[in-house]
Amino acid sequence: AAAEKDGYPSFMEKEIHDQPSAVEQTLLGRLDETGRLTLDELKIDEAVLRSIDKIVVIACGTASYAGQVARYAIEHWCRIPTEVELAHEFRYRDPIVNEKTLVVAVSQSGETMDTLMAVRHAQEQGAKVVAICNTNGSTIPREADAVLYTHAGPEIAVASTKAFLAQITAAYLLGLYLAQLRGNKYKDEIATMLAELEAMPAKIQRVLDEIEGDVKDLAQSMKDASSVLFLGRHVGFPVAMEGALKLKEIAYIHAEGFAAGELKHGPIALIDEGQPVFVIVPSPRGRDSLHAKVVSNIQEIRARGAVTIVIAEEGDEAVKDFANHIFYVPEAPTLLQPLLATVPLQIFAAELSAAKGYDVDQPRNLAKSVTVE
Ligand code: G6P
Repeated sequence: AAAEKDGYPSFMEKEIHDQPSAVEQTLLGRLDETGRLTLDELKIDEAVLRSIDKIVVIACGTASYAGQVARYAIEHWCRIPTEVELAHEFRYRDPIVNEKTLVVAVSQSGETMDTLMAVRHAQEQGAKVVAICNTNGSTIPREADAVLYTHAGPEIAVASTKAFLAQITAAYLLGLYLAQLRGNKYKDEIATMLAELEAMPAKIQRVLDEIEGDVKDLAQSMKDASSVLFLGRHVGFPVAMEGALKLKEIAYIHAEGFAAGELKHGPIALIDEGQPVFVIVPSPRGRDSLHAKVVSNIQEIRARGAVTIVIAEEGDEAVKDFANHIFYVPEAPTLLQPLLATVPLQIFAAELSAAKGYDVDQPRNLAKSVTVE
């Protein structure tokens, strides 16, 4: 078993380090020489894909956060209204789904019962289903109309890491492909995004090489924390929720991810002297003054005693003065930042779990794949 872990103390740590390759493998063979996207495995009639007027992403757990990240990108590139819903909620609320709905079922294992039931329900209403899945030949891709496999390799640790990055990558490919097919106005951006995606594996590797040690030191120093909060906006919001989920799952610490804009509507009441808060800061080069908004959120919580742990893009000096701890990740377009910003949160959770003496790979009460409803 030690050999299977490549010398790492846990599968989770190994899988965190597999991430540059997980993203690279998921992109492999899907771009032709001219940089155009070819998704041959997407065996749904092009005319059907052109007629889609709604996309619904269904998933559970970490896969649902990958869906939430993807929603920002798909709606922006394709201009198709996109919803993301937990599979068990979707299934039991009489959702409006028909032949013009594309359902995207995201599942690492391909065996999550709630997601499978939601897939069947959607198909009964006439929707086409694309599975984004990491396990060849599993039930969800077998029943779906088409499948885009994530090629992350087997994921053993219960807490999902490399599958998450690969799911975002695959969902982005699907979004870019639909945009390409529908010949939309973001043509230049599509080409740029494909090139930027290809550059991501090396940037993820840099995150691992450059900040892993410091993140681990911080985790060791925080092993007595009883509550940790995570804040983000836009794609940083699902990243915040994923960071919180990792801590709950393997370190058994109460953790919550919030949309930074919600702060004033409740969460700020939780801020007290010494409360640790991770903040995912969007790129200062991004649009819509997102960056300035998050910087002011950091100031607000700092003024109320929070210990701020800031994840920002390298070169971002504006956040320095308000950060108790700062971790810089490489430059990337806002939509791709989750592929970088999630990594320190995974490292933090794994290290904190290990520091508390817990079984990082086999957390109590949890299963890798939940095959009952
Ligand atoms: C379980 C696992 C999670 C995973 C979720 C969905 O809760 O512990 O890591 O995100 O199931 O699993 P799936 O295989 O459908 O992605």
